[in-house]
Amino acid sequence: MDWQSRPRCDETPAWRALGAHAAAHFSGPQAFDLRQAFAQDPARPWHLAVQGPHVYADLSRALIDAPARALLLRLAEECGLAAHRDAMLAGQHVNVSEDRPALHPLMRWPAESPHPLENLRQIQRQSASELSNMLSFAEQVRAQGRFDDVVHIGIGGSDLGPRLALQALAPDILPDAPRVHFVANMDGHELAGVLGRLRSATRTLFVLASKSFGTAETLRNAQSARDWFLAQGGPPQALAEHFVALTARPDLARALGAGRCFTFPEGVGGRLSLWSVIGLPVALAVGSAGFRALLAGAHAMDQHFAQAPLSANLPVQLGLLDVWYRNFLHFPSRCVVPYHHGLRRLPAYLQQLEMESNGKRVDARGRAVPFDTAPVIWGEEGSGAQHAFFQLLHQGTRVVPVEFVAVRRAAHDLPEHQARLLANALAQARALMLGHTDENPQRCFPGNRPSIFLLLDRLTPASLGALIALHEHRMFTSGSLWGLNSFDQWGVELGKRHSLAIEQALNQGDCSGLDPATAHLLALLTQPPPQDDPR
Ligand code: F6P
Repeated sequence: MDWQSRPRCDETPAWRALGAHAAAHFSGPQAFDLRQAFAQDPARPWHLAVQGPHVYADLSRALIDAPARALLLRLAEECGLAAHRDAMLAGQHVNVSEDRPALHPLMRWPAESPHPLENLRQIQRQSASELSNMLSFAEQVRAQGRFDDVVHIGIGGSDLGPRLALQALAPDILPDAPRVHFVANMDGHELAGVLGRLRSATRTLFVLASKSFGTAETLRNAQSARDWFLAQGGPPQALAEHFVALTARPDLARALGAGRCFTFPEGVGGRLSLWSVIGLPVALAVGSAGFRALLAGAHAMDQHFAQAPLSANLPVQLGLLDVWYRNFLHFPSRCVVPYHHGLRRLPAYLQQLEMESNGKRVDARGRAVPFDTAPVIWGEEGSGAQHAFFQLLHQGTRVVPVEFVAVRRAAHDLPEHQARLLANALAQARALMLGHTDENPQRCFPGNRPSIFLLLDRLTPASLGALIALHEHRMFTSGSLWGLNSFDQWGVELGKRHSLAIEQALNQGDCSGLDPATAHLLALLTQPPPQDDPR
């Protein structure tokens, strides 16, 4: 099937059959119940296990049955998912609104083997050479011991991936690595806090990470960092040595005074750019070998996504479950709870990945979609989350599917902690599913609340790479069935435009032209503090 003329999910017979199946078996008094499903099929954990590279998924506690799974596979086939995936991996312009390919899988193609496709070979060669320059630079910085501190300035995709990776790979950080700090926010408290912790301007490297080099937060923070460097006595002629850029627009970065620029292609989406030179802080911390292992783990997941049959394809199976939950069981959100401190930023990372990619109400052909798309992604690390929002998960009025991410072997040697942590994760899933009956209604738990487990053996660069790539392809799968272009993000533009107008009004003290709600708050925010303010 040609990927450009494939039908959208709601135009297929499988979609209608799924609707009928959900109505007949997943609503009303006879609705599917996990406790009965396990009673009828105790081998459910084996039947609903999917193994991908580095990641094992236990889907046995998902609210799904064998006929729904079979119909979802039919849906994927009728929607031409495989043709769309192949087109994406072959560098075709699947980002139709921007007329670009989606090149993130190419960034982790092994440097030593030329890409089999002629159209991608040249870009691969260039990107591999940029990446290798970036990695050599990282090695050099560490070997020379020239910098004590590195400040990575970037936001969204230019921040979340490196930040997540550095936290996740904390035990792999090399002893001679400089301290890496992140600054993303327009709020000066973040930059001021980091600047206050630096040892000295002359021993600090600033990394300006921005694909577009036009993002207001990054440009403001870069300018303030530069001002600070000079104010601290940093010599102006040393600016180029202390400011490097990671970008698809080296022209703009140089115009702003960055010295070395490491580049990546426009076809790599910001939220999918960890694998490109945007990974510099990760390479500085864990070294080239660690960074290459991250890429290798992600590449293994790419190969699995490209080759495994859809029925045993981990990203596809998760993406299909997402469609089932969103469109047929109508769950508005998905809660991600990593039971590993290193993965505490995973929910934030997945929020951008899923909600910026698939949070859309118009399909790739510009037609309004008559069904729901991306769920709200939220979450927090376990076990802390148990003492915050698990109450609602167990006894709240709405069902929220929970996604546990657990790691079998810890990097610390406190075995009692690891056993307890894993026991907590298992206990929560069990309690959600089994529920509890009690004479006192306050103490009743309805049960039949769904969850899945994603299991890693250890959290390593390779398994982290695979875990993140898994979610990229999962997002592609649901977006593909929904008929979306998952690679643009027009929805973030309007707020940016408004903020320029409001800033202008703020600076000029003139609210005319603003709506009354904005003008009212602006007046309150710009009022001088009262005379008797003790501060
Ligand atoms: O505003 C959204 C966005 O464009 C994201 O897609 C992107 O990750 C982020 O801003 C940062 O963009 P850039 O890397 O171009 O500064």
